[in-house]
Amino acid sequence: MSAKPYLLRKIISALTGLFLILFLIVHLYDNIFLFFGEEAFNTKAKELLSNPFIRVVEVLLFLSLIFHIGYGIYITVKNKKARNVPYKKIDWQTPFYKRMMWLSGTVIFLFLVIHLQSFLVPYRITGEADNLYQLVVLTFKNPFYTGFYIIAFIFLGFHLLHAWESAFQTFGFNHPVFTPIIKIIGWVLAIGITVGYSVVAIVAYLIL
Ligand code: HEM
Repeated sequence: MSAKPYLLRKIISALTGLFLILFLIVHLYDNIFLFFGEEAFNTKAKELLSNPFIRVVEVLLFLSLIFHIGYGIYITVKNKKARNVPYKKIDWQTPFYKRMMWLSGTVIFLFLVIHLQSFLVPYRITGEADNLYQLVVLTFKNPFYTGFYIIAFIFLGFHLLHAWESAFQTFGFNHPVFTPIIKIIGWVLAIGITVGYSVVAIVAYLIL
């Protein structure tokens, strides 16, 4: 297979990955409005819904998710086939979070299915729930639900850690000074997003 299509797919996967990281930062910011109470959070949600730019971004978001997940499955199967021998020896040189991208990806996918089914479907599709704040707070009162979220955020953090570094490698970015800085930014992002979302979930469970 010529390198071009393979490289193009890798570049699109890196670009969609960086776009999803941007979404996660903005989505965390939007969810912090939960702390400001029912009116603030519901007003924020309605603002986002009525903003045409957000609607366009939403389409891009779902197209990115579909491509990113699709490419993730394709590359995992391809790598497994390429190895075509049962993988006895674990390559301890490679960081564990890099070796388990398929596992963290699978957990995030499961999370997304449950997450969209819990919030987006009742609020935006069936219209069962018209008070998003109440829906979110009541849903987080279930300790198993909140516990699953926090486990999913830890996997998300490890997924992001490798995704961020590998995206820059895909763009061929390798610089003696900047590459270590990019690695540090990756750790800050991964820890920030994992802790940020976990705090939202724990506060919703314990306090709101
Ligand atoms: C404490 C954590 C989180 C809370 C409270 C939360 C809350 C919400 C709510 C209320 C919605 C529905 C918004 C609407 O329909 O207008 C939503 C949508 C969504 N969430 Fe989350 N979320 C959290 C974490 C995450 C994470 C970690 C991801 C990704 C891995 C994520 C991905 C999405 C996506 C893709 C949508 C659909 C966005 C859209 O259609 O605008 N969420 N979330």
